[in-house]
Amino acid sequence: ETYERIESVIHGFKLSSLTYKRVMHLLHEEMKRGLCNKSHNRADIKMFPTFVRALPDGSEKGNFLALDLGGTNFRVLLVKLNGKDVDIQSKTYLIPQRVMLGTGIQLFDHIADCIKKFITEHDLQNQKLPLGFTFSFPCKQEGLAKARLSQWTKGFRCEGVVGEDICRLLHEALHRIKINSIEVVAVVNDAVGTLMSAAHSDRQCEIGLILGTGCNACYMESLENVGLWEEDRDHPNQVIINTEWGAFGDNGCLDFIRTEYDRELDNFSINPGKQIMEKMISGMYMGEIVRLVLERLAMDELLFSGIDKESELFIRGRFYTKYVSEIESDNDEFFRNTKQVLDELGIENYTSEDCKIVKYVCTLVSARAAFLSSAGIATLINRLKKKTMTIAIDGSLYRFHPRFHNLMVLKIRELVNPGHKFKLTLSHDGSGKGAALVAAVATRLHEKKI
Ligand code: BG6
Ligand code: GLC
Repeated sequence: ETYERIESVIHGFKLSSLTYKRVMHLLHEEMKRGLCNKSHNRADIKMFPTFVRALPDGSEKGNFLALDLGGTNFRVLLVKLNGKDVDIQSKTYLIPQRVMLGTGIQLFDHIADCIKKFITEHDLQNQKLPLGFTFSFPCKQEGLAKARLSQWTKGFRCEGVVGEDICRLLHEALHRIKINSIEVVAVVNDAVGTLMSAAHSDRQCEIGLILGTGCNACYMESLENVGLWEEDRDHPNQVIINTEWGAFGDNGCLDFIRTEYDRELDNFSINPGKQIMEKMISGMYMGEIVRLVLERLAMDELLFSGIDKESELFIRGRFYTKYVSEIESDNDEFFRNTKQVLDELGIENYTSEDCKIVKYVCTLVSARAAFLSSAGIATLINRLKKKTMTIAIDGSLYRFHPRFHNLMVLKIRELVNPGHKFKLTLSHDGSGKGAALVAAVATRLHEKKI
């Protein structure tokens, strides 16, 4: 009976293949809406053309600065490209939460300050340097180096930036502290950087995926399918599309699979009603979903009998997604990691049965996340109709979760049309190498035209 009551609390995370196929159909419809001029404004999935139209060919050269903003870490990087050789030096800087939720001016002044520290430390003050800006938020690009923020996502909400060109904001901040030697030549989404970085050595790579703080994908699309494209249609006849699929479901079309925990998490987020698919998948939210389920089980006395009502388990945000990865790494009856997490939360007197249930909840919540991202990737593979394809992936969730990769391989295989082969590979340094490559490829194409 206890078993049945536990099942009734968590059965909503178990979805059939038929359900995932329905999700794929809805996702594809929404993507087509996003690509089309007439319906774009009403579409949740924005399908932004990125102005990146060629993949690297390995001949790229030069020194570049890069910025990486929007993932777990904010970094400034110096990238030296020389054919297949890539040398990267980077430093991570902190962005305090008051800056993440402050004004745009404060944010860009802070970024400019970090750049100044970096170039001083590396003695680059007197060099003219092109900069590739990995800015991992939805932007409507009007050029490679002109990108208007369409909305903030994840943990950022700085005033006065939505609708503005973030390159201009960065240039202005640099000029305020008298730095005139740096030119932003490209704004790149992290998914795009991830794709570029992997495509440098793998010609079959056409999809980039981020499974980290947020979740997003990009892919190479033929220009004839991009109604939004208003620029020249000369060779190359293709462009990378930043799908921004994290916003899928914002119009309610995923409500049939959302659980009460998804709704509660959304209600307490800084952007209620937004980024619905992202909130079911990505690292910023997954631990909290698990926590909400554990909280329910504890309240219903199905878990941790006699737990103190003041326990840290009942604090929002206290159950990190890295715990899910750690717990999922336990594969014997000793539950070493699970126990360590429960100890860290100050939970006392738990039983082996409790550990088993906690692990079961983690398994179901992470499997749903892996399967939903698989449904997204399978939708793209079916759309692109290539015989073999590589998907480049980055982000802490994919890197550190012990089973995400395998779960995805199995599910994608099940969901793609027959005859497609695919490979999922971890991409390295998307925001450094990837952003520098975008800057370099742009320069190459520009020079060819002249
Ligand atoms: C990093 C990339 O490896 O992964 C970033 O350099 C990207 O550009 C990030 O945003 C995504 O993962 P996370 O987990 O840091 O959000
Ligand atoms: C969010 C952002 C998107 C980014 C993703 C992964 O979904 O909107 O631009 O790619 O997070 O960082």
